This record gives sequence, C-alpha cells and structure tokens, in this order.
Amino acid sequence: MTASATTRTALDPSRLRRALGRVPTSVAVVTGVVEGEPVGMTVGSLTSVSSDPPIIGFFAAAQSYTFAQLRQASDLCVSVLSEAQGDVCYGFASRTGAKFDCGEWDTESGPAPRLVSASAWIECTPSMIFDAGDHVGMLAAVTDVEYTDHRPLVFYRGKLARLHPSVTHHPATSRLDWWSL
Ligand SMILES: Cc1cc2nc3c(=O)[nH]c(=O)nc-3n(C[C@H](O)[C@H](O)[C@H](O)COP(=O)(O)O)c2cc1C
Repeated sequence: MTASATTRTALDPSRLRRALGRVPTSVAVVTGVVEGEPVGMTVGSLTSVSSDPPIIGFFAAAQSYTFAQLRQASDLCVSVLSEAQGDVCYGFASRTGAKFDCGEWDTESGPAPRLVSASAWIECTPSMIFDAGDHVGMLAAVTDVEYTDHRPLVFYRGKLARLHPSVTHHPATSRLDWWSL
C-alpha cells in the first residue's frame, strides 16, 4: 500500500454537498399510519432497486424524528411530487406542524395516505433497514403503483426546479427508444 493511499485528506463536506447537488433528484413524500395517526416526510433519495421482485429504496437521516415513527408503519405510500407541489415538499420537510394541511390527501384508496395530483404513487411494505453512515437505508417491497401525466418536481443545486418542456425531447433520446416509459 502506498503512503498516499493511507494518508487521505478529509473530504470537505461543503464540496461534497455541492458536487452531489449537481445530481438532480425526484422529490417524494413517504407516508404511513402509526398508532392511528398519519406520518410523513419529504425524501430526495427515492431509488428504484429491483423490478423482479419489485423493490424501492430511500435513505433517511439516522437522527430523523419522523423516520423513527415511519419505520413502525407496516405499509407505506411514496407519493412522487408533481411540479405544482413545492409547498408540500417544504411542508413535509419540517419536523413539526400540521403537515397534512399541506396538499390534498386521499386516505381511502390505500393503507397509507396518498397525495392527490402527484406524479406517481408507490405502495410498499418495508423489508429491510440498514445503517449507511449518518443515514439509514430502507428497502421496501412494492405492492401497488399508479401514475399520472403530471410533470415531476425536481430538486437540483439545493432548489426546487421544473423540467423544461424541451428536456424531455433531448436529441439523444432517440438512442433510448428501447426504454419506452
Ligand atoms: C428536497 C428535499 C429532500 C429531502 N430528502 C431527504 C432524504 O432523502 N432523507 C432525509 O432523511 N431527509 C430528507 N429531507 C429532509 C426531511 O424531509 C426533513 O428534514 C425531515 O422530515 C424533518 O425532520 P425529521 O425527520 O427529523 O422530523 C429532504 C428535504 C428536502 C426539502
């Protein structure tokens, strides 16, 4: 092993944040019901993990007060926010307050609240929780999905953004025709 491999300088956290801020993410609210009360939090870390069997995942801060509650729920719903739902994003990114006063919620269609007019809904049941540094990862088995044509909300460089209409028709898209979604 070389000396340079063993004497790494500490990575500047603000550089890391800036670099990873260049990765545009979706914005979703994960909801569940715990002891009869709805619980929810905003996440930008939603990811597709497996299609067969269907599994999604996301990451929560290890110190997250809301995740400590959510992980007790047997069923979760991930509402993928549409571009008009910025207020819902910020409402569910707070620790306190009447979060479910933000947005319109359907509590009848599934075991966990669904955000009306979202881009997509993913119903799932938690299957694994694992430590990941200062976060914990959750994998969840997908039990049902629905989607709409509402354009998504995007998080990019620390701010909410919308997709520009032409972005969905980037010239290189013809090379991706095999992946028609
Ligand atoms: C766009 C956006 C994305 C976020 N993504 C995550 C995430 O992936 N994981 C996480 O733990 N918190 C994330 N947060 C922060 C939480 O939503 C928020 O801090 C939390 O729900 C409130 O604090 P608490 O969890 O301690 O109650 C995000 C916030 C915003 C605005």
